[in-house]
Amino acid sequence: MAGVPQPQVNLIPGCPRHVAIIMDGNGRWATQRGRPRLYGHHAGARRVREIVESCPQIGVEYLTIFAFSTENWKRTQVEVAGLMTLFRRYIVKETRALITSGVRVRFIGDRLRLDDKLIALMNDLETATAQNTLVHLTIALNYGGRDEVARATKRLAGDVAEGRLHPDDVDEETLPRYLDTHVLPDPDLVIRTSGEARISNFLLWQSAYSEYEFIDTLWPDFTSDEFKNLCAAFGGRDRRYGGVLG
Ligand code: FPP
Repeated sequence: MAGVPQPQVNLIPGCPRHVAIIMDGNGRWATQRGRPRLYGHHAGARRVREIVESCPQIGVEYLTIFAFSTENWKRTQVEVAGLMTLFRRYIVKETRALITSGVRVRFIGDRLRLDDKLIALMNDLETATAQNTLVHLTIALNYGGRDEVARATKRLAGDVAEGRLHPDDVDEETLPRYLDTHVLPDPDLVIRTSGEARISNFLLWQSAYSEYEFIDTLWPDFTSDEFKNLCAAFGGRDRRYGGVLG
């Protein structure tokens, strides 16, 4: 179809359909250069574009990135305010490119604590890209896995209280329908940069059977080549979901 962005042909065999990334190491990257932490976050934002653009070339359909956690409010007021400004600028600056390159953007996390201007930009970007299907980019902003499960449980309990859901009908398939990620497949591969081997409250329910890659590279140094290599390595893994070797 003319005008609709199409995936490239050099796809990686066995490529993960959904990759989630904990983008860590911006602060250390900046400190190593004698610069303020926000300098690292700005460099990190430039990497986001490169990685998103590489997704259709390698066959990644869903990319979910951890931009700001429910715990990140504990950082200094300067860093938090700087990150919020960066998110607003990112949305304004990237909207056109995201629309034309076929990227559908969604946000997960609790929006209530975010400022109205940012919320409006997030809503507008979701609406502006809603018809796109080439890559599904999900940005986790004021997101915490436990917070998400608690908010989901509250909504589920509300449905039980109102008689829309019977407790006997609650099973493993029920709760995910209340999660922020209810329209997304579970991540196949979760990558964390910067040498830390923790999941830090990211996609706790959804990553029950994900493969993990903890790599030393700091996020601002993470290239699309390294991303491609990790996706290629995933293709060689044997996923058993608790069963035996096939
Ligand atoms: C963790 O590194 C990173 C963050 C808390 C922010 C992530 C934000 C970006 C990559 C920038 C922009 C994102 C978008 C979507 C525009 P850290 O600061 O904890 O690093 P450190 O562990 O070295 O201190």
